[in-house]
Amino acid sequence: MDKISILGGKTLEGTITISGSKNAALPILVSSLLTREISNLDNVPNLLDITTMKELLISLGIKIVAKEKSLFIEPSNNISTHADYELVRKMRASVLVLGPLLARFGEAEVSLPGGCAIGSRPVDIHINALKKMGAKLEIKDGYIKASVPNKKLVGADITFPKVSVGATENIIMAACLAKGKTIIRNAALEPEIDDLITVLNKMGANVYRLDSNKIEVEGVISLKGFSHSVMPDRIEAGTYAMAAVITAGRIELLKAEEKYLKNVIKYLNRVGAKIESTNNGINIEGPKVINNIDMKTEVYPGFPTDLQAQAMALMSVAEGSSVIEESIFENRFMHIAELVRFGANIKNKGVKAHIVGCKVLNGAQVMATDLRASSSLILAGLRAEGETIINRVYHLDRGYENLEKKLSMCGANIRRI
Ligand code: EPZ
Repeated sequence: MDKISILGGKTLEGTITISGSKNAALPILVSSLLTREISNLDNVPNLLDITTMKELLISLGIKIVAKEKSLFIEPSNNISTHADYELVRKMRASVLVLGPLLARFGEAEVSLPGGCAIGSRPVDIHINALKKMGAKLEIKDGYIKASVPNKKLVGADITFPKVSVGATENIIMAACLAKGKTIIRNAALEPEIDDLITVLNKMGANVYRLDSNKIEVEGVISLKGFSHSVMPDRIEAGTYAMAAVITAGRIELLKAEEKYLKNVIKYLNRVGAKIESTNNGINIEGPKVINNIDMKTEVYPGFPTDLQAQAMALMSVAEGSSVIEESIFENRFMHIAELVRFGANIKNKGVKAHIVGCKVLNGAQVMATDLRASSSLILAGLRAEGETIINRVYHLDRGYENLEKKLSMCGANIRRI
């Protein structure tokens, strides 16, 4: 069950319900390490990455019971502070347990997450910030070994050398139980971080976003459990919006929130799509002709790097040439070689991809290399003439819930083989 077959050329029409956000649910699940009380999380997407995070938290001593889309989370009385390589290596977001373990228990041993297809993915920003809060950290035998003198982190004034979503989340969670005030400057602005902040404040923390990318946290002694429903996934929504565009179709994205997709909607309007908010979400109508529009990925609220590969699939069949620049990750062009197998005309020069749109894509055998690259192959397959077989689709299952079902409900001829 590791391949997906698509017979392309169908115009997609219908509605797709957007699932809970993977990148909000992951840090929120980790925040359960900050309390001894029971918590409840709703609208959790059923994804491989969520399963991996649940396995990691269970290995640390957190009991998690799933009931449909809800998770009941009950920390045990003896939490382990050792996050093992076997689990951490599967998903980079595992490093988010470092801050909470240090904040609550004054020690942590977390395997280095290792790189992945899109880049080396260092964690130096996380480590240096925790050092500023009084932690002693060293890298030994592939693990981050950390401890805090007298078990209490101390609030600090921290400026991130570059914007990092994960580091912002790690330090916010660590600061909630630190002594005194922490200021984070050059903090990431992603809305998934705001969903985490909402949860932390429900737990009794004092976390505030100030102006110009600053976050202030006033540490407290302890935190309560939480009850929360995860925000909708804006990257999933953006991906399916592009499925409507590339097939000149019409899809209503239920639960999608326009306010989190402003720059994506602006881009898709320039590409030629007709987009309007409805009472239940966003309606996308794809154009007959796709305009060639240059794009550069930026930190939020700019055009998200997680939709770069998908936009490249659109530009592969645009009316003319375009340039896509990836400014966040150093190696997030693995999908170029695979899109070229469909007949796309794309040349990679450093951080830029030069695309010359072509009329027709032909179905091909292709390989998914990372989560978002795999969704760009789905988009190309939906457009291409003939059959496309996508290998290694476990990458897709990390971030897209019920993808084949959602697309076939809109008329796509797609099945897992
Ligand atoms: C989060 O990853 C997301 N993952 C990624 O989504 C997303 O692509 C990324 O943010 C950027 O928006 C989750 O939220 C679980 P970063 P994260 O720290 O936190 C460098 C997906 O498809 N950096 O903002 O790991 C880093 O190498 C995934 O759902 C350092 O140099 O990203 C990158 O070049 C893929 N040192 C840049 O910063 C550090 O200590 C941004 O990384 C940390 C990061």
